[in-house]
Order: sequence, then structure tokens, then C-alpha cells
Amino acid sequence: MCGIVGCVNGSSVLPVLVDGLKRMEYRGYDSAGVALLRADRSTVIKRAGKLVELAAALDESKPTGAAGIGHSRWATHGPPTEVNAHPHVASWAGGSIALVHNGIIENYAELKAGLLTQGRTFLSETDTEVLAHLIAVARSEGKDLLEAVRTVLTQVRGTFALAILDSTEPGRMIGARRGSPLIVGVANDAIYLASDQTAILGHTDQLVFLDDDEIVDCRSGTYTVIDFEASVQRHEVHRSELQLEEIQKSGFPHFLLKEIHAQPEAVRDILRGRLILEDGISHLGGLDTIMPFLPWLDGIDTVACGTSYYAGLVGSYLLERMTELPVHVAFASEFRYRSPVVAKGTLGMVISQSGETADTLAALRELKRRGNHPQEQRRRGGGNPVIGLVNVVGSSIAREVDGGVYLHAGPEISVASTKAFTAQVIAQLLVGLQIGRNRRLPITEGQHIVRALHALPDQIQRILDRSADIEAIADRVAGYDHVMFLGRDALYPVALEGALKLKEVSYIQAEAHAAGEMKHGPIALTGPDLLTIYLCPKNDLYEKARSNLQEVKARGGTLVIVGTEGDTSLREFSDDVVGIPAEAPIWTQPILVNVWLQLLAYYAAVKRGTDVDQPRNLAKSVTVE
Ligand code: AGP
Repeated sequence: MCGIVGCVNGSSVLPVLVDGLKRMEYRGYDSAGVALLRADRSTVIKRAGKLVELAAALDESKPTGAAGIGHSRWATHGPPTEVNAHPHVASWAGGSIALVHNGIIENYAELKAGLLTQGRTFLSETDTEVLAHLIAVARSEGKDLLEAVRTVLTQVRGTFALAILDSTEPGRMIGARRGSPLIVGVANDAIYLASDQTAILGHTDQLVFLDDDEIVDCRSGTYTVIDFEASVQRHEVHRSELQLEEIQKSGFPHFLLKEIHAQPEAVRDILRGRLILEDGISHLGGLDTIMPFLPWLDGIDTVACGTSYYAGLVGSYLLERMTELPVHVAFASEFRYRSPVVAKGTLGMVISQSGETADTLAALRELKRRGNHPQEQRRRGGGNPVIGLVNVVGSSIAREVDGGVYLHAGPEISVASTKAFTAQVIAQLLVGLQIGRNRRLPITEGQHIVRALHALPDQIQRILDRSADIEAIADRVAGYDHVMFLGRDALYPVALEGALKLKEVSYIQAEAHAAGEMKHGPIALTGPDLLTIYLCPKNDLYEKARSNLQEVKARGGTLVIVGTEGDTSLREFSDDVVGIPAEAPIWTQPILVNVWLQLLAYYAAVKRGTDVDQPRNLAKSVTVE
């Protein structure tokens, strides 16, 4: 997904821009560029392709500037060419505007038509270039830069995070946001703009999070925020907890492997201070605001995308058992458009690693709109609450929910989500404990779950210590072009997630089915050239799972099995068998089985030589529809 970095420091900004763009490579992009300003000149350099192309051009020309903006583009309007790369430039009588943009301008066609009739000429096929021209026209009409930006943005429909330079004002940079994140970094002698705080890590840990429809006017060391009515806005300055080494590989060959191996520590971080064994409960400060709603709670609606959706699906099996409430899970991209019915008494739950996924943010807003029942307003003074399970602190979703649980999984750099999935399932167990123990979940079961969670980090480590077992299997899996994952109950969504992980990093076509559904069609695929990965740890449905294994075996299917450690009977079906710790109950089996599947996907991808951390066509955070 596109990345923005900007800086005004009165000296030299190029290293900040290049460093920032490198830090955001993980988000996925296909072109990049920078614009630099100094008193007597402005320079714009951009290249299609990876950052190395731009870096080579910068090494050659060595541009300097006291203010500058940089952008990595994930193509939406117009192919990933140099001319479509940002920054986009528009001239006016006195100078020129350079601008970078994340988001989509929905009314760009009508705005562009108006500019064309004024004789403006366009170089690119992008929606973004329209904004540069509109601001240039406003400047030629005599408006101050800040006022020009403000009046232009009030005409715009769509989403944007912007960084803007004006060649006539070399010590100044303007930022603005609506529906796409933009952070202001504050230092004594410099002001930074970034769409992702990793881009300016190491330069400052003092961050201001802009709200939608706000504009920031930056000069060396000072900034002012206004809203679209030109009223000055005050914001709290947050101190970022992020450390530089957290976004480096620390000796691992890929971020994906680093993050898989970071899970024991991530689990300890998310559990820290949140479990009380003697009462079999959790304590989540982020739910305090919604606890008064519990007496009216009749159900839970979960919305999310991709891996976060599958984590929500795992959670639905576990939450229904813990709370005895109906839990519905929907793809955010479907939920936002299907005119959903959100009954009164429903707790909304939004799950997102980045907290910036456009579909999930839109679904959150739809959950709020449709859960705002007038009679609820009268009866208890409010509509249905919505909570968020989010990893990135201060993200858009985290700031729009009524409460929630930060995942504390640490920055997830690899495009494929791994430790966030684990944290998201755990967060739902914590939510389930807090709600369930205020309903009918017995203390003994609550204590059982608390113990299972406390045991989880060491159990994950035991699996990681045996990575070589799955690496050998992955070498064989990498040779298949079609793989089917099967699982039952809470392991069915793990099968779905395993299929997603394998396909998104190794490009192997993979699908998943509820194992009980095999006989209703998918078994037609079973045969020697289809590899079946079957999830069957020992639990209440184990015997049913074994009969599915028989069905696959009887039809000549090849199997890889994730079962329970020591279950030697599985060797009857395959030599490729790995297991999770026998003591793990159903509450934590999905997480442990999934660790094996994460490793399987990783090693299969390495074997197939794909771009493990930045798979083709993918972005880390899909902040556009
Ligand atoms: C997961 O491996 C994918 N990268 C993708 O499905 C991701 O989970 C999805 O885009 C949702 O992202 P979010 O959790 O940041 O909202």
C-alpha cells in the first residue's frame, strides 16, 4: 500500500526521505519518488519499480533540500509507470506545487474536466494530479498556500493523506488527511509527516495523529493544525513505544520467519497483566466503557478482512462456548454493502492488525450506524457499542471504536500476517472470559482457559523448536500445484487461514473446506495430484476426523497431517505427520495448529523462491477499496 514521508528541517531532508521509504517497503508498492525544495530550486525525481531504481537516480543527481516529500505508490488509477509515480507537479505563474497522495479521489473526473476547460494540461492518468492542479490554480488566484489547500479539499470527495510543497515557500510543508492515516512527527528542529510511524522512527518518538478533515501547516520545528472550517485544532502529543530494532530482521532471513518466531513473546505481551487465575477471569481496561452494556447484550457481530476475518471465525466458535451468545462473522467488504441488520443488544467487534483497512473501517462505521437504535437511545442513552481488536496504536480504527483490546503483538512487517492472527484469537479468548464470567461461564472453566493461555508461549516454542520437521514436509508440498486444507469446528477457519497463508506467500493454489463437507463435493478433487492437509488434533471430534482421513486415503489422496504429539496411529495415513502438545485444550488448539501451517507456508515459499515478505500484488494494509 502507498507510503508517505515528509520532512522540513531547514538543512538536508534527502536521507530522511530515502530512509522513510525503505522502512515502508514492506507495505507493498510499484513505484516511488521524491520532491525536494531549497531556496533557489525544487527537484522532483521518481522511478517505476522498486526503491533501488530511485536510489540509483538519487545517487547520481544528489539533490538537496530543506523540505521534502517522498512516496511509494501501489497503483490504483493508471499503471505503475514513472509518469504516474508521485510526486505530481503543477505549475502556476509564481511557482509550482508538488504533491503526494494516499487514497482515492472519487470525483477526480469531474474536477479534471473543469481544469481541462481552464487549459490545464495533464501528464499522468492518476486521480492525484488533479489535486496538484487545483492547488496551483488556487495559488494563482492569490490564496495563501494553507488557504489554497483548505478550499480545494472542501471540493474533494474520496479519501486522502497528502503531503504538499510549494516552490515559493521552501521552508514549509502542508499535510492533510481524510480516511487515510497521516501522522505528524515533532522534533525540536524538524517536523515530519508519515503515513506509517515506522517511516520516521529514529528521528522522533513524539507523534500527533491527525483526525479526518484536518490540515497541518509545518515549518522547521513548529506546526499548526486546522480543520476544514479553518479553526485551529489542538492534539495530544503521543510518545511512540516502537523501537528501531523491532522493524529490522534481527538476523532472520525474512521478516515472516522472524514474526513467526516472535509469537511466544508476543503471547506473553498480550497476556501481561490481563489474567487472574484465582477467579478464572480476564481484566481488559479497554472494555470498561462497554461493561455497562452487558445486561443488554444479546449477541456479537464481528467484521474483518483476510487473516483477521479467519481469526474472527475461530473466535466465533470459542466465544459462543464461553458466552452462550450468538456470534456472527462477516467479511467487512461484504458487510458494508449488504444493508446488514444489526439487532439491538449486539456488541460490534472489529478485528484489524493495521487498524487502517478501508473495508474494515467502513464496516465499523456501518456497524455504528445500524446499531444506533432509537429505542436503545431512549432506554439506556446509547446505541450498540463497537470494540476493536487492533495491533497498531493510534490507528484510525483504534480511534473510532468505543473500546477494545490492543494486540501488543509488535509491528508486523511481513505482508503475510502471522503473530497478529495469534494475538487476535487470544484477544477474543480474553474478551470471552471477561463477558462469559459475567454470564454463566463457571469459574472452573475460566481457570482452565487461563491455565491454557499461560501454557501457550512455551507450547508454541516447542513447535518452533521442531521447525525442521515441517521444513522437510514443505519441500514436498512446494512441488504441488493444488492443495486442500481440511478441518472441523474451530479448526475449519484454521484450515481457511492455512490455505490463505500458503497461497499468498508460495502462490500455490490452495483451498479449504469444513472436513464434514468433503462428501458434498470437494472429495471429487481427491486423487494422487491433490495434496490434502488435514488438521486433526485430539478433541471431541477426533473420531469423525479419522473417518475423513480414511475417505481421503481410500481414494489415493496424499496427506499431510497436523495432529497431536504422540498420536502414532496417524502414521497409518501418512508419513508426513506433525503434532501439537497433547495437553492443549480446544481453546488453544487453533493457535498451535496454525503455527505449524505458518511454518509450512514459509518454507514452501522459500523453496519456490517467491518474494516471501512482499508477495506479488499484495499490500500490508489495504487502505483503499
Ligand atoms: C494476511 O496474511 C493478509 N496480508 C491480509 O489478508 C490481511 O489480513 C487483511 O488485509 C486484513 O488486514 P488488517 O488485519 O490490517 O485489517
